[in-house]
Amino acid sequence: MISREVIEKIKEKCDIVDVISEYVSLQKVGANYRGLCPFHTETSPSFYVNTSRKMYHCFGCGESGDVIKFIEKLENLSYVEAVQKLASRIGMKVDFSQEDSSKALYYEFYKFLHEQYKSKLESAQNIIEYLEKRGFSKREISLYEFGFSPVNSNIPQLAANKLGIDKERLASFGFSYNDPFSGRIIIPIKDDFGKVIAFGGRLVGDGIPKYINSQETFVFKKSSVLFMFNVAKEYIKEMDYVVICEGYFDALAFHRAGIKNAVATLGTTLSKTHISKLRKYTSNIILAFDSDNAGIKAALKNIELLIPDGFNVVVAAFDQAKDADETFHKFGSQGLLNVLGSALSPEVYVVNQFSKMYDLSNPNGVNSFLKAVSYWESVFSRNVKILDNFHDKLSTLTSIERSKVSNVLQLYLQQSANNINQRSTNVQEKQIRKVDSRGPSLPSLEDYLVYIYYNYPELFKQLEFSPDLLEGNVREFFLIAKDLNDLEDQLSKDMMKIVKSSLDKIDVPIDDKVIQSIKRELEIRKIDKRIVEIDALIGKSQNEDEKRILLKARIELIKQKEKIKRSSN
Ligand code: UTP
Ligand code: MN
Repeated sequence: MISREVIEKIKEKCDIVDVISEYVSLQKVGANYRGLCPFHTETSPSFYVNTSRKMYHCFGCGESGDVIKFIEKLENLSYVEAVQKLASRIGMKVDFSQEDSSKALYYEFYKFLHEQYKSKLESAQNIIEYLEKRGFSKREISLYEFGFSPVNSNIPQLAANKLGIDKERLASFGFSYNDPFSGRIIIPIKDDFGKVIAFGGRLVGDGIPKYINSQETFVFKKSSVLFMFNVAKEYIKEMDYVVICEGYFDALAFHRAGIKNAVATLGTTLSKTHISKLRKYTSNIILAFDSDNAGIKAALKNIELLIPDGFNVVVAAFDQAKDADETFHKFGSQGLLNVLGSALSPEVYVVNQFSKMYDLSNPNGVNSFLKAVSYWESVFSRNVKILDNFHDKLSTLTSIERSKVSNVLQLYLQQSANNINQRSTNVQEKQIRKVDSRGPSLPSLEDYLVYIYYNYPELFKQLEFSPDLLEGNVREFFLIAKDLNDLEDQLSKDMMKIVKSSLDKIDVPIDDKVIQSIKRELEIRKIDKRIVEIDALIGKSQNEDEKRILLKARIELIKQKEKIKRSSN
């Protein structure tokens, strides 16, 4: 890294509005600026520059970051180059510290290795034949940049000598003089920008282990890399869904079939980092794991992670072949498209898998089955559609009355460990409910609040209100907005759309008059809410005195409301 002080100084001296204004025509809105996003095509401005946070964010495509990231993206530079460019703008000399040049060297090292491996493949006829047997054309072999590490490879040593890397540093790069990939086909693993940061190595033919991956390093973390993401990302955005599979060759099969919004995890389940990376691109996921036990386990685990997080998930079932690679080999692109097209909703997948494990022809089997699936009641808890269908399916399978299914599951759920309950409530809190959108309309109170929240943070502070007073998605927005700092980075794609639609509706400066009327509107909402509560109490009350008191309070509230309305004229 370049030292923190340098970064801070650059961010302070290079005014983000000045810098971005050179590329984008910005208009002032409150404390912020707004313009047409340079990172995607749009006709109404969704690109905001937040002056107090010194960040930009596009509510249309999700791009966000600081002034350095802006230059990096727009000029297509590396981080270091972007810093250099900004530094020279303010006449500052940047001293690159050890670690940073180390990263540059890392990339150089991996690039060199990769070049070597690729060139070794050219003369390894049997390896080329192997790949051809797996269906890769010559063009595809070079497109996907396979390589080969010959038996007794001295390639790491060669690279180290060439680049002046000592043994210690070589170790920090995940290598020693001995090439662990020796005798294996090399699959390049790239970061999100296409730089090689690790390798996968497959044995040619059978043997154990079939695959090895590079060791984790300060650059390569399995939990943040998705294989093929560097290519897939733009397609994921465009198609608004992602296909996630297990293996290198599975992801490649999708790409070869023209389904380029596919990625693979490197033999792990999705991590938090993976999930937040994907969230910026889409909320829709197709899991396309192998049909074996490991694949089923991984699919279930991922459903469990993704559903409570608000993703729409379906599971592709490979019943004619063991995985995506084999499907493509046997049935071509159409085979993969068919599999995707017949993907199952998560509740159906869960019920199918679990019902296979129990004997549902006897009551004991049914009980064990319900006990086993009860956990999923909590996973699906906030999604009414999924939950409904889940109950339908269970009712049909077990012949338990439809109206009783939920109670039975709840019972089993309570019996099982407390911590599971704990977990499901946290999950509920985080979840974002979907409310039907009502089409274009005049800005609502909700729209104003979002607009002010972003553009007039100082004025926003004057508006104390509980999100409970709000309706629809904006209410959920303010529920999460309360405890997030880098909010924009954490917004799901759906949430961003909602924010954008509010921001789009308003194009006026906010003055004290507007604030006052918003305050009044909030007051009225508060009163309305209390009236509803009182009505409920009146309905329930058996005591005449109590009813009278409640009615009096109700009249009082109505009077207050009228007073507020009058004061606005
Ligand atoms: P699979 O065993 O399903 O491999 O492992 P595959 O993708 O079908 O491989 P092919 O088609 O026979 O070549 C799925 C993924 O799990 C990881 C790899 O990332 C692999 O692609 N894995 C598997 C390992 O890391 N090590 C192994 O020994 C096996
Ligand atoms: Mn497989």
